[in-house]
Amino acid sequence: MRFSYREIGNRLLRARLGKSHGIHGCFPSRDRRKRFFASLGKLLILEVLLAMLTAALPLPAQDHVGQPIPKYVTGDECLFCHRVKVADTWQQNPHALTVHPRPEDEISDENLPTDAAYILGSHPPYRGLKEDGYGKYDLLSHDGKSWDPEAFALRCAGCHTTAVDPKAHTFSASSLDCYTCHGVAPENHPNDTSLIWLSKKHAHDPKQIVSICGQCHLRGGKSKSSRLPYPNNFVAGDDLFRDFQVDFAKADDASLSPNDRHIYTNVRNVVQHASDVTCLSCHKVHDNNTAKHRLVLSGPICLDCHYAEGPKKKVKQSVVKSDVCEY
Ligand code: HEC
Ligand code: HEC
Ligand code: HEC
Ligand code: HEC
Ligand code: HEC
Ligand code: HEC
Repeated sequence: MRFSYREIGNRLLRARLGKSHGIHGCFPSRDRRKRFFASLGKLLILEVLLAMLTAALPLPAQDHVGQPIPKYVTGDECLFCHRVKVADTWQQNPHALTVHPRPEDEISDENLPTDAAYILGSHPPYRGLKEDGYGKYDLLSHDGKSWDPEAFALRCAGCHTTAVDPKAHTFSASSLDCYTCHGVAPENHPNDTSLIWLSKKHAHDPKQIVSICGQCHLRGGKSKSSRLPYPNNFVAGDDLFRDFQVDFAKADDASLSPNDRHIYTNVRNVVQHASDVTCLSCHKVHDNNTAKHRLVLSGPICLDCHYAEGPKKKVKQSVVKSDVCEY
C-alpha cells in the first residue's frame, strides 16, 4: 500500500490518542475492570502459547518469485522524515545515481548522441539510455548510434532500477529506491525500529544481509524461474538463493576483478561456512566508505585485495571489467 507520510503521521497520532483515551479518558466500573483484567490474563496466556509455537516452528522462508510487486513507500516520503543523516548525502550516493538525467554540459567526451537523455552509471564507464514508455528504457548499443529496445529490460533493469515486474520487466522507479535495500518499510517502524531491515535493532541474519546486497552485487548469477541475469522480484527478507543460482567457485576465479571476487568470497563464507562477517562489517552504505574494514579480523578474504606479506598499504590492482555489465 502506498500511503503518504501525512497519513502515516495521522495514523500514528490516532494510535497514540487511542491509547491514552483508554487509560485516562474513562473510568470503568469495578466490575468492568475485573472483567478487563480477567480477559487480559487470558490474552497473556494466549500470547505466551503463540510465542512458544512461533519459537518452535521455523518461519516459512519469505519468497516473492513471480508474484506481483509489493506496495512500498517511495523514497521522497522516506526522505521527508529522514532529513538528517540520510537526505544530506543521498543525492550523491552512487545507488541514487545508477540511472540519472543527462547533465547539461558534462559527459561530452563519451560521444553520446543527443537523444541519450538518461545516463546509466554514477561515474564512467557510462551507457546512454532513452525513455520508451512506462518503466522502459532503450539501451544505446556499443556502436554509439543504434538503440536496443530489449536489452535494458532483459539484461540490466533488475540491478540498476527499482522493483522490476516479473512479467512485463518494467521498473516501478528509475535508479535505486530505499525499498531495494530496506524492503517494505512497516508503517509503525518509527515506534519500533526493529521492524525495518538494516536498522540497528533489526535482526542481523548474515544470510539475509548478503541476500540483500547480493541481489545486485553477485554479478553472474541467474534466476532459475526467469532465466534472466538478475533476481526475479527479490524483496529484502527473502532467501535469494532459492531462485537465484550463483556459482561460488567464482570466488577463486583469478580473472575476476578483486572487487567482484571479494563479494563472492564473502557470500560463500556466509552461506557455506556460517561466517557472520557481512558486507556491513566493512561497508557503510550511506557514508559511502569502507574505513571500518581495517578493523575486521584478518582472514582469507583480505587476500582478495591485499598481499599475504608486506604492508597493508599495498593493494592488488583492480581490473575494471564485467561481462554482465558489458564493460
Ligand atoms: C538493487 C541493486 C543493488 C543493491 C540491493 C545494492 N547495490 Fe550496491 N550498487 C549497485 C549498483 C548498480 C552500483 C553501481 C552504481 C553506479 O555507480 O552507477 C552499486 C555500487 C555499490 C558500491 C560502490 C560505490 C562506489 O563508490 O562506486 C558499493 C560499495 C556498494 N554498492 C555496496 C552495497 C552494499 C553493501 C549493499 C547492501 C547493503 C548494496 N550495495 C546493495 C546495486 C545495488
Ligand atoms: C546482477 C546485477 C547486474 C546486472 C544484471 C547488470 N548490472 Fe551493471 N552493475 C551492477 C553492479 C553491482 C555495479 C557496481 C559494480 C562496482 O561498483 O563494483 C554495476 C555497474 C555498472 C556500470 C558502471 C557504472 C558505475 O558508475 O560504476 C555500468 C556502465 C553498468 N553496470 C552497465 C550495465 C549494463 C549495460 C547492464 C545490462 C547489459 C548491466 N549493467 C547489468 C549490477 C548489475
Ligand atoms: C544500497 C542499499 C541501501 C539503500 C538503497 C538505502 N539504504 Fe538506508 N541503510 C542501508 C544500510 C546498509 C544501513 C546501515 C548503516 C549504513 O551502512 O550506512 C542503512 C541505514 C539507514 C538508516 C539509519 C541511519 C542511521 O545511522 O541512523 C536510515 C534512516 C536509512 N538507512 C534510510 C534510508 C532511506 C530513506 C533510503 C532511500 C532514500 C535508504 N536508506 C536507501 C542501506 C541502504
Ligand atoms: C512519518 C515519518 C517517517 C517516514 C515516512 C519514514 N520513517 Fe523511517 N523512521 C522514522 C522515525 C521517527 C524513526 C526512528 C528514529 C530514527 O532512528 O531516526 C525511523 C527509523 C528508521 C530506520 C531505523 C534507524 C535505526 O537504525 O535505528 C530506518 C532504516 C528507516 N527509518 C528507514 C525508512 C525508510 C526506508 C522509509 C521509507 C520507506 C522510512 N524510514 C519512512 C520516521 C519515518
Ligand atoms: C572484509 C571487508 C569487506 C567485506 C566483507 C566486503 N567488502 Fe566490499 N570492499 C571492501 C573494501 C576495503 C573495498 C575497496 C574500497 C576501495 O576501493 O576504496 C571494497 C570494494 C567493494 C566494491 C567496489 C567499490 C568501488 O569503489 O567500486 C563493491 C561494489 C563492494 N565492495 C561490495 C560489497 C558487497 C556487496 C559485500 C557483501 C557481499 C562486500 N563488499 C563485502 C571491503 C569489504
Ligand atoms: C575489496 C578489496 C579489499 C579487501 C577485501 C580488504 N581490503 Fe583492506 N584495503 C583495501 C584498499 C583499497 C585499501 C586502501 C584504501 C583504504 O584505506 O580503504 C585498504 C587498506 C587497508 C588498511 C590500511 C593500510 C594503510 O596502511 O593505510 C588495512 C589495515 C586493511 N586494509 C586491512 C584489511 C583487512 C584486515 C582485510 C580483511 C579482513 C582487508 N583489509 C580486506 C582493499 C581491501
